[in-house]
Amino acid sequence: MATLQAIKYSRGKLLVLDQLRLPHEHHYDEVSTSEEAFDCIRSMRVRGAPAIAIVAALAHAVELFSGSCIATTPEETIAHIDSRLDYLKESRPTAVDLSNAISLLKRASRAAQIEGLAHPEAKEAILNAYIEAAETILTKDLQSNKSIGAHGAAWLQQQYNASPDRKISVLTHCNTGSLATSGHGTALGIIRTLHMEGLLQHAYCTETRPYNQGSRLTSFELVFEKIPATLITDSMAGALFALHRERMHIGAVIVGADRVVRNGDTANKIGTYSLAVLARHHGVKFVVAAPTTSIDLETLSGAGIKIEERKANELTQISGAVVNDDGTVDSTKTARVAIADQRIGVWNPAFDVTPNDLIDAIVTEKGTVVKGADGKFDFSQVMPERW
Ligand code: MRU
Repeated sequence: MATLQAIKYSRGKLLVLDQLRLPHEHHYDEVSTSEEAFDCIRSMRVRGAPAIAIVAALAHAVELFSGSCIATTPEETIAHIDSRLDYLKESRPTAVDLSNAISLLKRASRAAQIEGLAHPEAKEAILNAYIEAAETILTKDLQSNKSIGAHGAAWLQQQYNASPDRKISVLTHCNTGSLATSGHGTALGIIRTLHMEGLLQHAYCTETRPYNQGSRLTSFELVFEKIPATLITDSMAGALFALHRERMHIGAVIVGADRVVRNGDTANKIGTYSLAVLARHHGVKFVVAAPTTSIDLETLSGAGIKIEERKANELTQISGAVVNDDGTVDSTKTARVAIADQRIGVWNPAFDVTPNDLIDAIVTEKGTVVKGADGKFDFSQVMPERW
C-alpha cells in the first residue's frame, strides 16, 4: 500500500512535503541548506516534533555533503557544524526532539575527531560521522514509531480486554502521524496499529484550532489509510465523551508530545490540556505517545517549558482550496480568508502543558510508563542511561 511520506531523503537530496498545501495539493520542496530548513520549520511547512528534528538534521547533512563547509582543520569543522546547528535550534522552541537531535549530532561529530588524524582526512571523518548520525535519526524514528504503536496498542488492549469482538474507540488531537514523523506516527501510530490488529472501533480527530492540523492533516491521513474516523471541532469533545459514557465507547484520548519533562508533565498542541481535564471528568484514559527523543529529563516540571507563541493571523485568517457550487473542491484555486476582525487583539500559544496527574500512561518505543505506587512517573525503565 502507498504510504504518506513527509520527508524523502537520499544522500545529498532532501525533499519535504509542504504541509500548508495539504490536503489539496501534494508539493515537495527541495531543502538543501540550513536557511531553507529554518524557514520550512518556522513557517510550519513541516511540523511535528520528530519531523522538525529530522528535517533540521538532514538539511545540514545535505549542506555538508554538497561541500559547503570551507573549514580545513577539525576544530574549524566542528565549530562550523555547531554554529549551523545552534542556528537551526532557534527555528521552533518547544519541541525537545530538535535539541536532543542537535546534542546527539554534536556528540557524533566530536567522536570522529580522532587525535593525530591529518587533514583533509580528519575533516572528512567528521563530515561523514555527522551525515551518518543524521541518517540514523531518520531510520531510527520509523522503528521507534512502530514500537510505540505496538506498546500502546498492547497497553490499551490489556486495559479494556479488547478483541476483534470488543473493539475500542479513541480520540486524538493535532497530527502525530506519518506527516509529523518519518512514518507510521506516534499517537496516530497507536491508532494505526489498533486498526491493523482489528481492535479499533472508531477514531475521532479534533479539528485542532487554530492551525487545523487535525482537520487538514489527521483527517487526511485517516481517510488515506481507510481507518473508520470522524472529525469533530475541539469544542465538541466534552459532548462526545458525555454521549459515549453510558456506552463506554471512547476508550482513550491518545495524543503526542512536544516535550515530556522529568515529572511527566507534557507539552503538546494547544487544546491537549482541556482534553485531559475532560477525559478525567468522564473516566476516559489519557495516553501520551512519545519517543524517548521527546523526553527532557533536565527540565523538572512543566513550569520550565518555553511555550512558543505564534502570529495573530493564524487565528484571524484561514487558507484553503476553493469549493465549487456543486460541492467539489478546486485544488488549483486556493484562498486566504479573513475570519475575524483583523484589529482584534490575539493570544496564540502553540502548545499547552498537561500536568502529570491527568496522564494515565506515557508510551515510548521502549515500553509504556505508568505511575508507580508513589503516584509518580519514573522513566528509569526506558531511559536508564539518562535517569
Ligand atoms: O505545531 P505543531 O504542528 O508542530 O505541533 C505538533 C504537535 O503538537 C504534536 O502533537 C507533537 O509534535 C507530536 S508529533 C509526533
